[in-house]
Amino acid sequence: MGVQESDALDVAAIRDEFPVLDREFDGTPLRYLDNAATAQTPKRVVEAIVDYYYGYNANVHRGIHELSQEASIAYEEAHDTVGEFVGTDRREEVVFTKNTTEAMNLVAYAWGLNELGPGDEVVLTEMEHHASLVTWQQIAKRTGATCKYVPITDEGYLDMEAARDLITDDTEMVSVVHVSNTLGTVNPVRELTDIAHDHGAYAFVDGAQSAPHHPVDVTDIGCDFFAFSAHKMCGPTGIGALYGREEVLEEMEPYLYGGDMIRKVTFEDSTWNELPWKFEAGTPSIAQGIAFAEACEYLEDVGQDAIERHDRELTEYAYDRLSEFDDIDIYGPPGDDRGALVSFNLEGVHAHDLASIVNDDGVAIRAGDHCTQPLHDVLGVGASARASFYLYNTREEIDVLVEAVDEARQLFA
Ligand code: ALA
Repeated sequence: MGVQESDALDVAAIRDEFPVLDREFDGTPLRYLDNAATAQTPKRVVEAIVDYYYGYNANVHRGIHELSQEASIAYEEAHDTVGEFVGTDRREEVVFTKNTTEAMNLVAYAWGLNELGPGDEVVLTEMEHHASLVTWQQIAKRTGATCKYVPITDEGYLDMEAARDLITDDTEMVSVVHVSNTLGTVNPVRELTDIAHDHGAYAFVDGAQSAPHHPVDVTDIGCDFFAFSAHKMCGPTGIGALYGREEVLEEMEPYLYGGDMIRKVTFEDSTWNELPWKFEAGTPSIAQGIAFAEACEYLEDVGQDAIERHDRELTEYAYDRLSEFDDIDIYGPPGDDRGALVSFNLEGVHAHDLASIVNDDGVAIRAGDHCTQPLHDVLGVGASARASFYLYNTREEIDVLVEAVDEARQLFA
């Protein structure tokens, strides 16, 4: 496959690190454009998992034997690496979770269930992922609190005037997606955090689609919580992280009870371990945690600024190419002002059919509601097709997508 070299990234060398990208289906090469769902994994991240299982597989925080010491140190240090990746050097502020969804549930249950009540408000946006929307919606139902949603503009930006009206002294939590997984909108999370804090509310930023593509600094954002998943940033599935401001995490009760999260247990009562272990009950995902750190180091070694530039160029290219057609509706902001994805519909062709047709050309995209059903209601469609990009993608792959969409048009004409 011809691969262009950009000033920023040596894409050919990068692709060599991802064996799955060499897959072919009956001679048709894979064009993997479903990175917003999950990204591919480079050899060194897989090797970190293999090294753990072949070299020092043991439970953490439980053994005084050498193997357990090695595993414990690697697992603990992984928290430091992952924390530094998003701008904190405090291990206490980095809780490993299963994924972004679990990080949200952790805060919603551990904080929301105890702190929210009738009259309290949680402010979300119309572009929230179900992970945030359903979680806060259900916790609100259980506590008597109310959820409010910041609307989007016709261009797919947040209506910030409405946000300023909706966030009031009744607001206890503002939970906002950093980069929309459907619209690609990059939200002004610093501004939203400031508005939340002006009203005494906490701010939770869903970083699932931002941390993989953009350098993130939780101190710059100023948020109280930030959640992200390893598998969208070249790491394994089954591991994600919750950044929480230490003072806030200290005040929160545990979310799960069990081993490792306790300090002292009697038949009558228990006390809790120090942060972050207070929130990591039971045997954690040790290999995955260590490999998560390896993924962060991999992205840093490639260069986060260069990755961001590369993703932006590809996204703008895809947006422009798909915009050539009058019968394609693209959702969200302009091509030069969005995260690394483009969601669209081809008139007269259901998104699932479109994904199936482009699949015949080896092109992997996602079709459906992308876990944003209410947003699709706002857009007035039941589903959309979505192409999403990462450091190993090329313009040529986007050209194949566009040609395949053209084939679909002809097939349904
Ligand atoms: N949240 C992931 C996506 O947008 C799964 O595809």
